[in-house]
Amino acid sequence: MKHLIRTSIGATAALVLGIGLALATPAPDPMKSLSGRPAGADPLNPMTALMARSDEATGGEGNVELGGLPDGPGAEDTYYQCVACHSTEIIKQQRVTDHRWDELWTWMVEAQGMVEPDDQTKKVILTYLKTNFSSER
Ligand code: HEC
Repeated sequence: MKHLIRTSIGATAALVLGIGLALATPAPDPMKSLSGRPAGADPLNPMTALMARSDEATGGEGNVELGGLPDGPGAEDTYYQCVACHSTEIIKQQRVTDHRWDELWTWMVEAQGMVEPDDQTKKVILTYLKTNFSSER
């Protein structure tokens, strides 16, 4: 009987110690590795972990203060004209023809209600877009 009690005390002590250790080790949070991923990224897709984080997308190139737009004449005008409605990502990923940029501008004004700046600023912005995000150069 004495032996039995001693065994069960030992077992209880081991159990308590075990639980203590388990609680002390922080469980890895699987959602942590997904934070900052593009919205809608599939967490079951193994490539998700490798996808660019939105906060790292500008890595090194471009002006961080202008949403990663490359510096140059018109960068600031472009930033303030365009981020009223969406991020610079949608611009940076474009490689379209010069003509397409003119069309996109018209579409942004007519279909999306973009307020047009004065002609000079419009010219500066379109030149900037065609210089940096064109498929023609
Ligand atoms: C008044 C709001 C507004 C402004 C200002 C605006 N956009 Fe947009 N833009 C939109 C909307 C809305 C979409 C569609 C987003 C979507 O796909 O849901 C869009 C989409 C785009 C696209 C993607 C087009 C495609 O082929 O899918 C580009 C490129 C773009 N905008 C560039 C610009 C640029 C460059 C500027 C600044 C000169 C600008 N936008 C300013 C509202 C705006």
